[in-house]
Amino acid sequence: MEIRQLAGALGAEVIGLDLTSGIEETAFSAVRDALHQSGVICIRGQGAMTPQGQLAFAARWGEISIHPYVPSIEGHPGIMKIYDPNPITQTWHSDSTHMREPHAYTLLLARILPEVGGDTMFASATGAFQSLSPGFQAVLRTLSAVHEGTALAADAGLDHEAVVAVHPVVRAHPDTGAEALFVNDNYVTRIDGWSPEESRPLLEYLYGVIGRHENTYRHRWHHGDLVIWDNRSTQHAVVGDVAGEERVLHRVTIASSASDG
Ligand code: SIN
Repeated sequence: MEIRQLAGALGAEVIGLDLTSGIEETAFSAVRDALHQSGVICIRGQGAMTPQGQLAFAARWGEISIHPYVPSIEGHPGIMKIYDPNPITQTWHSDSTHMREPHAYTLLLARILPEVGGDTMFASATGAFQSLSPGFQAVLRTLSAVHEGTALAADAGLDHEAVVAVHPVVRAHPDTGAEALFVNDNYVTRIDGWSPEESRPLLEYLYGVIGRHENTYRHRWHHGDLVIWDNRSTQHAVVGDVAGEERVLHRVTIASSASDG
């Protein structure tokens, strides 16, 4: 197994690992360390992975989370089908931050890919925070933000209170201790205690910092890619340039443990 860095800020690829017959603890630890180091990793060559195999590998990372309002694929609770067009995946975000304990990890397996287009952008929320001045960082550490579920939650008949959570604007990663910005344009509606209008300029500024080119890695999907990202330290967004072709990926998310904060 070889692990190679793919960009300056984040992103690594794992080559020579066949997950069809499981993974030993030593190799798994190396992959998990690489993920915590790089924020997002791509394990190449997993085209033969079955839905059961994806769920079994996902379970090594923690408890599989069933999405509160997006259904799983038939027969495989925990696997969500991602397909285009899906506008909410095109904005920088980390997954399900409207939950009280947002997801720790997401595993996305390429199933059907377009000839070109549909790359996924990743940004380091840790690098974004580190690029700010100490004075601004100190102010941000005092703030929290209100995260609310999208219109899909209301369409599914969920009570609004069930899809609202308040999280600190800056969160320390439970494993590495590295602080990261934890606000995103999909779910954050305001800074806690501020109006939406007062919050917008600060939030827009922070989103701009997160999306700076030097802070990102662009993943060009290949058949068999299994991409895993850490929702505590990164954000992602799909490039919406698929013209009419199919793009299908299977997504599994892993719950945070209560100690993640
Ligand atoms: C997602 O936002 O979870 C999906 C990302 C993708 O389709 O590449």
